Amino acid sequence: MAPPSINCNEEINWDEIGFGIVPTDSMYMMKCSTEEDTFSEGTLVPYGNLHLTPSAGILNYGQGVIEGLKAYRSKDGRIVMFRPEENGRRMKIGAERMCMPSPSVEQFVKAVKQTVLANKRWVPPLGKGSLYIRPLLMGTGSVLGLVPAPEYTFLIYVTPVKTYHKGPLNLVIKDKLYRAISGSGGTGGIKSVVNYSPAYKALKEARAEGFSDILYLDAATGKFVEELSSCNIFLVKGKAISTPTAGGNNILPGITRKSIIEIAIDLGYEVMEGEVGVDELMEADEVFCTGTAVGVNPVASITHNNNRAEYKTGPEAVSQKLLQTLVGIQTGHIQDTRGWTLQIE
Ligand SMILES: Cc1ncc(COP(=O)(O)O)c(C=O)c1O
Repeated sequence: MAPPSINCNEEINWDEIGFGIVPTDSMYMMKCSTEEDTFSEGTLVPYGNLHLTPSAGILNYGQGVIEGLKAYRSKDGRIVMFRPEENGRRMKIGAERMCMPSPSVEQFVKAVKQTVLANKRWVPPLGKGSLYIRPLLMGTGSVLGLVPAPEYTFLIYVTPVKTYHKGPLNLVIKDKLYRAISGSGGTGGIKSVVNYSPAYKALKEARAEGFSDILYLDAATGKFVEELSSCNIFLVKGKAISTPTAGGNNILPGITRKSIIEIAIDLGYEVMEGEVGVDELMEADEVFCTGTAVGVNPVASITHNNNRAEYKTGPEAVSQKLLQTLVGIQTGHIQDTRGWTLQIE
């Protein structure tokens, strides 16, 4: 397809894009066999279906990790990404846990950049959304026994998504319901593909009961909150902000979470990372969650057993101040003093 002479695709009604997959122009692919053990040169190929052996490790045993990041238009129309090297680092940690080789952080960032540039007409105009980037590392070699695949593929595809304004969330905590594979030896601290679909059944039930998402408890004691299905959680009490310690086996160390901690400290809040008990959460002034998809999303209520706690939301909420600062840095409205944004065009 000939590259357009315009910045954004004029054929697209940007007001109509949602959260489905919009097929874009190109995707990136790079392979590695366990004999070589390193990824060499990848290439851009037209966006389309994959050719996979039915016995691929990813299809049979879920040997795979994903990442999720975005490319945005800044206020002057340039394309920027937010801390892509952090996603590259997280993918490496996940790959090690899932017994897979992974691209280096430099290869990861270069490949993401190349994929975005090849699809730049799909980056929505400022205020209309962003280009969601999905790197996927998977065992594509053939396996029958329970062993790591002999070949791996690193793939990146992109799709435009609208700005996500879900409104304040109504969460539910269910006793004895844990996210993915939590607990010792678990994979909750990485973005393994096996962590997500186990939550579908409980999520479907929670949504049918009128809740937006589930807030999961730790599997070891059932007393401490961990995170939502795909977001980290924070609570605000006075000038103090708390969030469960991430990493390890249970909680994904979100890049938005890490950034919001720094922004909150800069704005004068005391930020504590540690165990967050259900009781403490139910008594908070404000609760919000963070993630690439939502940015910073306020929580209106949490229901646990027969108790429902309600929290402050609206323009005066701390979460709004944090979200505005984050988006301001991403779009260039606020000076990026930490080198978080990577301008690629
Ligand atoms: C389980 C889980 N927790 C938290 C997050 C938020 O992480 P990030 O801020 O890096 O998007 C995600 C999304 O990647 C997730 O899947």
